[in-house]
Amino acid sequence: MGFRVAVVGATGNVGREILKTLSERAFPVDDVVALASSRSIGSQVSFGEDDVLDVQVLDDFNFRGTDIVLSSPGSKISAAFAPRAAKAGAVVIDNTSQFRMDPDVPLVVPEVNPQAIAQYEKRGIIANPNCSTIQMVVALKPLHDLARIKRVVVATYQSVSGAGRAAMDELFSQTRSIYVNDPIKPELLTKQIAFNVIPHIDVFVDGGDTKEEWKMAVETRKILDPDIAVSATCVRVPVFIGHAEAVNVEFDGPITEAAARQALRTAPGVIVLDHRADEGYVTPVEAAGDDAVYVSRIRRDPTVPHGLNLWVVSDNLRKGAALNAVQIAELLVEKHLEKKRPAGRSNVEHLRTPDRVIH
Ligand SMILES: NC(=O)c1ccc[n+]([C@@H]2O[C@H](COP(=O)([O-])OP(=O)(O)OC[C@H]3O[C@@H](n4cnc5c(N)ncnc54)[C@H](OP(=O)(O)O)[C@@H]3O)[C@@H](O)[C@H]2O)c1
Repeated sequence: MGFRVAVVGATGNVGREILKTLSERAFPVDDVVALASSRSIGSQVSFGEDDVLDVQVLDDFNFRGTDIVLSSPGSKISAAFAPRAAKAGAVVIDNTSQFRMDPDVPLVVPEVNPQAIAQYEKRGIIANPNCSTIQMVVALKPLHDLARIKRVVVATYQSVSGAGRAAMDELFSQTRSIYVNDPIKPELLTKQIAFNVIPHIDVFVDGGDTKEEWKMAVETRKILDPDIAVSATCVRVPVFIGHAEAVNVEFDGPITEAAARQALRTAPGVIVLDHRADEGYVTPVEAAGDDAVYVSRIRRDPTVPHGLNLWVVSDNLRKGAALNAVQIAELLVEKHLEKKRPAGRSNVEHLRTPDRVIH
């Protein structure tokens, strides 16, 4: 016996990847429901190699009997539906920014703060962090355990898929327009994205940061350590899938490059690929479709007493969204939901098979 799962935003970039990830990892489902807006009435989405799901309308859906909701319909929609689903008895794992900083909602990256998930019962909601935050904290955690991190300065290079399907279409159509000499008219993104970069993701907040930059700072502190200072500059680049980050880290005490490299090599979810040679580092195109957070260009920063520079790359739709959400669901099942089930309905053994290990 498995769980009844609903995917909200199932027709979107993240929702489709969630359905793919649930199937790939053989998450124990009895029943999967795909939900989206009324615009998607009549459409279908794939679930694994063989199954196709009819999309149902979120507003009409009754969550009673649903165990887990994996959601990515945008903040405003999550604000409205998630409490309703939680009240009906489901646990909502939400990808939007709506609940991330709510003190009663755990913000979880399973490789970093799996223990936080225990707080889920307060509101019946668990938040998935921002895609840029997730890949950065997965890489920072083993280093923080080695020598406490004081300050992080990060510049991101974020793909257009982070802004949804429409932004991918915009990059595609602008690129085409340039080749055929058609005029460019930015629609979703604030400036031309084809053959350009845009230092503006989400709205501006007090002090001049963008909300994306603010999210990276406050989410890192909530997940990893409230004492870490983070200064971020977030940039949209003309890449379809995969975010890259140039990360400068300042530590409290000494840390050697070799020790950092070794800690990263053995850290869950991280792959170090770092040779000082052509092709000795990972780029977003190579990370697309993969689960790992790749770390390259590990080197000492000699301008501060204890500093390192890193290049961190990951697929924003997988570890930055869908995979992290499904890993949270796996953890929720193993640590909490299984214990509440009648004897004889266990799926825990399944989640412990070697390629399903939750680190
Ligand atoms: N992309 C990333 O890397 C990433 C990472 C982490 C978090 N997120 C967050 O996840 C959310 C979705 O991102 P995305 O990239 O998947 O966007 P997307 O491709 O634009 O998809 C949006 C999804 O939300 C659905 N939706 C919109 N309005 C709705 C409504 N009124 N009722 C029900 N469903 C509705 C859409 O359904 P229709 O097709 O019917 O319109 C679609 O399935 C955003 O909040 C985003 O910030 C994204």
